[in-house]
Amino acid sequence: MAKIRIGILGFGTVGGGVYKTLRNFDNVEIKKILVRDITKPRNISPEDKSLLTDKPDEIITNPEIDVVVELMGGIEPAGNYIKTAIEHGKHIVTANKELLAKQGKDLFEFAEKYNKVILYEAAIAGGIPVIMPVKTILAGNKITKIQAILNGTTNYILTKMDKDGADYSAVLKEAQEMGYAEADPTSDVEGFDAAYKITTLATIAFGKRVHIENVYREGISKIKLDDIKAANDLGHKIKLIALATIDEQGRADVRVHPMLVPENLTLAHIDYVTNAVEISGHPIGKIVLSGPGAGEFPTASSVVGDILAIAAEFGKTDYILPMMRCNHSQEAIPVDIKDTVNKYYLSFTAPNTQGIIGKLGTLCAEHNISLQSIMQKGVKDDNTANIVVITELCREEDIRNVIAEFKECTLNSLIRVAI
Ligand code: NAP
Ligand code: HSE
Repeated sequence: MAKIRIGILGFGTVGGGVYKTLRNFDNVEIKKILVRDITKPRNISPEDKSLLTDKPDEIITNPEIDVVVELMGGIEPAGNYIKTAIEHGKHIVTANKELLAKQGKDLFEFAEKYNKVILYEAAIAGGIPVIMPVKTILAGNKITKIQAILNGTTNYILTKMDKDGADYSAVLKEAQEMGYAEADPTSDVEGFDAAYKITTLATIAFGKRVHIENVYREGISKIKLDDIKAANDLGHKIKLIALATIDEQGRADVRVHPMLVPENLTLAHIDYVTNAVEISGHPIGKIVLSGPGAGEFPTASSVVGDILAIAAEFGKTDYILPMMRCNHSQEAIPVDIKDTVNKYYLSFTAPNTQGIIGKLGTLCAEHNISLQSIMQKGVKDDNTANIVVITELCREEDIRNVIAEFKECTLNSLIRVAI
């Protein structure tokens, strides 16, 4: 059997997992592995040490390599290495969601010009097969909504805070030690990573290009244990949700922010590093794909699957994997968060004075907002009380106006509620 020859850029968490997994396949030959620091001790067998290099040209311009597997992360030099590799006739497999979200259009057009494919199953939801299903077996659907948990690190943190009352910083450290977090975990906790993923996923699912600049984003760093407890009391779990919807006119509302998820929804029960992608469309209805969203081996599963997909067709046709190519010429029309309609969880610190709840009710009524529930929790020593509210569906702009006018109280948290 002819072997496909690959070069791997990066030998960290994912690169290491791919190296170990590929030992089981005799139709794939690793020719070289690029690292930044060649002197670092590595978990690599002695006979393979000579595969390591710190010279990118030994991979990206090497005529003996068919596929370049980019597992370095970041924009540069990863982007330039991929383009050089394509110019030198290589297909690409990558796990780099940031690069795809920021430069996907340019990279896919570039690859098409050279008749090369870029596969990226590992970039979205780690080990869950989602790109291949959306591009192939779900191709007959008009997908109109995706509601997903796309970041393992933040789901791990929120779950540990919820179940064990764990401290945010300590759990983040655990997630880093387990290889879930990005090199700079700000990307995880502030929602950038999930925003990159939903940008690409929404683009392929809707068949219209979504731009990262139009994706509204909030992370989990401001979520307090008090919010998690209050959410539980109200029958909800707090999750970092990536949401994308598109209407008949092509207006795409794409965003990432924490949400209160009612316990009767599947996403409320997706815990720890598990991710889940709920896809709604016609004729399928609704499906949920779930599995490990980060870590060495789940991510390696997706990377190796992509390598094997290329290997299966390599040398047998002039145009491999036509359904996996990305060439969306249409643009989605962005929707501003102010114009979206949501339910809200609001938590205020209020002075313990008569009529304060009445004032909130009046302000909400003046802005066409109905309240689903309102709860005052005791009175503290400083004569303040905590008021927690859940609204019915209302416009974001209206809720922002109420908050601005409710000057007697301090807003502690605003979290949207999943429906
Ligand atoms: P990582 O552990 O930080 O590994 C990065 C590797 O790339 C290291 O081996 C590093 O070399 C090498 N590298 C980085 N910059 C380089 C440069 N300029 N020149 C040469 N080598 C360079 O990262 P990771 O967690 O494996 O993630 C890799 C990619 O997969 C990222 O795009 C990430 O977003 C994505 N991803 C990660 C996961 C996950 O669970 N970790 C899941 C899905 C996708 P040294 O070893 O010498 O430092
Ligand atoms: N840092 C990412 C996460 C890795 O935690 O989900 C998987 O893309």
